[in-house]
Amino acid sequence: MTETPQAPQSPSSSSSRGRRWLVVGAAGMLGQDLVARLHRSGADVVGLGRADLDVTDGAATGAAARGFDVVVNCAAWTAVDDAEAREGDAFRVNATGAANLARAAYAAGARLVQVSTDYVFAGDAEAPYAEDAAMEPRSAYGRTKAAGEWAVRAETPDHLIVRTAWLYGAHGGCFPRTMARLGAEKDRLAVVDDQVGQPTWTADLADLIVRLVEAGAPSGTYHGTSAGQTSWFGFTRRVLASAGLGTPVEPTTSDAFVRPAPRPAFSVLGHDALRSAGVEPIGDWAARWDAAAAEVLAL
Ligand SMILES: NC(=O)c1ccc[n+]([C@@H]2O[C@H](COP(=O)([O-])OP(=O)(O)OC[C@H]3O[C@@H](n4cnc5c(N)ncnc54)[C@H](OP(=O)(O)O)[C@@H]3O)[C@@H](O)[C@H]2O)c1
Repeated sequence: MTETPQAPQSPSSSSSRGRRWLVVGAAGMLGQDLVARLHRSGADVVGLGRADLDVTDGAATGAAARGFDVVVNCAAWTAVDDAEAREGDAFRVNATGAANLARAAYAAGARLVQVSTDYVFAGDAEAPYAEDAAMEPRSAYGRTKAAGEWAVRAETPDHLIVRTAWLYGAHGGCFPRTMARLGAEKDRLAVVDDQVGQPTWTADLADLIVRLVEAGAPSGTYHGTSAGQTSWFGFTRRVLASAGLGTPVEPTTSDAFVRPAPRPAFSVLGHDALRSAGVEPIGDWAARWDAAAAEVLAL
């Protein structure tokens, strides 16, 4: 079981003025949108990409966190299939790296925001996963991210663990960009209809992270995904419509696309902890996709 948010608000999270933010993994898809969101709101933010800070380097990570009030860990090993054969390498980034940052944030008196994933769950539920549902990862990537969560809980009481899923954004390779390209290249597409989840725009997640911190949300675990649910097939149809493509799409099953890492069949996350903290969850996935499409597909 994971803890539900209940710890008292920390001094570092209570003031929204003069807060200094450090975004680690700032060159990634989420990291870029988070730095942009913070810049837009006039926040004092430093973004460090992997070339500036390798989270597996404990000494460098400790030094980098000094002087910050909030440290957001957007760095991760996200190659889900490669992690199956290289779990140790993925663990070094997703678990040891998270532990290093959490320790550094604690020493600096900073609040740590750790971004996690739906892959910590088994993905065989029939109702949305609650924040305190048991973690039962079925893949190497999921195990390393679950270990990262536990490391953060162990190293600093002043943490926000924000699980997300099915991310897409303008600054990285992602599912809708791939499907729009394939839809333009091919006569027809077959897309899996037996995996459901919540497509989530990195810009929305970045905004949610900022709102959580600014609200002084209690330490604990939150779910940062869009509302509602759809399958990859359903999402593809919406993406192709946005791209003005009439390419026929037919539903298929996961058996047609076997990959090294198992994919969760059910990746729908509940948002009760956000509501309890007085933080509005992200809106419905379809409306949010409509808002995002032009930017993400660069139409
Ligand atoms: N994408 C999704 O659908 C999804 C779903 C659920 C959860 N998440 C989580 O959301 C977060 C953000 O994901 P994202 O989609 O933005 O991933 P991303 O685009 O792959 O960004 C991750 C960044 O971390 C960097 N990185 C890798 N190893 C590092 C290290 N040792 N030290 C410092 N930086 C390192 C990567 O640099 P290089 O590119 O140079 O390796 C990359 O810039 C991650 O925690 C991920 O687990 C993502």
